[in-house]
Amino acid sequence: MGTQIASDLTPRRVSRVQTKYRRIVTDIPAPESIPVLERLRQFEPRSMSGQPPIVWDRAEGIQIYDRWGNMWLDWSSGVVVTNAGHGHPAIRQAMMERIEHGLIHNYCFPSEIRGELAAGLAKVAPEGLKKVFLLTTGSEACECAIKLARTHGKTINAKKITIVTYHNAFHGRTLGSQMAGGIPALKDWIVNLDPNMVQVPFPDGFRGLDTSFEGFLKALDRAGVTPDQVAGVMTETYQGGNASFAPPEYIQKLRNWCDQHRALLIFDEIQAGFGRTGKYWGFEHYGVVPDLICCGKGISSGMPLSAVIGRGDIMDLYPPGSMTSTHTGNPVCAAAALANLKVIEEQNLVENSRRMGEVMQPLLRQLGSRFPKHVGAVHGKGLVAALHMVRPGGIEPDSALATDIVRRCMEKGLLMFAPVGYAGASVKIAPPLVTPEDAIREGVSVLEEAMREAIQ
Ligand SMILES: Cc1ncc(COP(=O)(O)O)c(C=O)c1O
Repeated sequence: MGTQIASDLTPRRVSRVQTKYRRIVTDIPAPESIPVLERLRQFEPRSMSGQPPIVWDRAEGIQIYDRWGNMWLDWSSGVVVTNAGHGHPAIRQAMMERIEHGLIHNYCFPSEIRGELAAGLAKVAPEGLKKVFLLTTGSEACECAIKLARTHGKTINAKKITIVTYHNAFHGRTLGSQMAGGIPALKDWIVNLDPNMVQVPFPDGFRGLDTSFEGFLKALDRAGVTPDQVAGVMTETYQGGNASFAPPEYIQKLRNWCDQHRALLIFDEIQAGFGRTGKYWGFEHYGVVPDLICCGKGISSGMPLSAVIGRGDIMDLYPPGSMTSTHTGNPVCAAAALANLKVIEEQNLVENSRRMGEVMQPLLRQLGSRFPKHVGAVHGKGLVAALHMVRPGGIEPDSALATDIVRRCMEKGLLMFAPVGYAGASVKIAPPLVTPEDAIREGVSVLEEAMREAIQ
């Protein structure tokens, strides 16, 4: 998918930039960074070379620095991770204290810090979802939710094992999580797809034009699935690649349908959780509560940690010793996550995400409307958004244009990760939740400049 931003590492002469938030003082890639980039290309798989060719040396708050004097305003949050900003001092301090205290690993042996984090996450979760299983990655959290849903379904009837997910969904790259995803090209390698994992259209109102809940029922019918076979329905709260939300009425009907048929409703909040969308949990936009939440990324603002949070009767399906993980609640990661929860609360980051979203979302929609032939849709809420780039005259995705825009922004000191979403044609925007208004406005004007140059 997508076009690579820099297959050729030859430095390009770019205009110098100096503002409060951005500084570009070298050609790009910085000539002195080439040996580092070449070493990475030599020793890592090719799949790792998709991101803009800048060498991260330091990242603080809303800025990324290389070693050669350049500084980028960050619109990536890594990959929608650093909600509290990069390297928040309180998070660093909490990790250092934990290391100096003398506990850097605890497996499933009891530890105070793991208990504190489980309780802290239960506290921010909605009523009824008060058990927390800590893992390391988002993919693992989704795998675990699939396992729990099927195990739960089988307690009702032996055939209640179908997991329903959505077209274009992304839930991770391990076998089960990738199978649950809805991007066929990413699933070629699996070959023997599980016939009891089915995908239905996502009602985003752009590529999934039927936004009625009847569309869900019809799609199940077409797939030959009856409601009594469904163990669970899992969806990203917003589709990560395209920042697309479903209509609240659709999700409310889905909640009722799941209740009626004793299927679990699972929200993959790995991108949406911890304030990203202007609410603590993305599903609050829909006015429903799921049975299981998968979360990760913004849970710690930097350290590898994820969690499944859910109803006690589901989370307790497995007896002692049979649902565990080597690095569950690693003490240093747990310390980071606990400090992160505190920062989110004390710095009102959910509120900042909401307020800044009210500035950013209209600006991006106005920007999109200035290029109506090339921007098919602008989706998002709070501090996440995506511009869906298309070929003039239709909705065919234009990944080359999206890649060109991201590259131009990078050369001007505004950093986004490589385009994602449908056919790799979405320019995705995800600033840290500590971003102030003047930085949002500056970012949008840089994006506009890049789009003008790319589209002409
Ligand atoms: C919505 C969603 N689910 C799951 C994952 C997988 O998470 P991880 O890469 O930590 O395994 C991602 C990662 O991008 C994601 O965005």
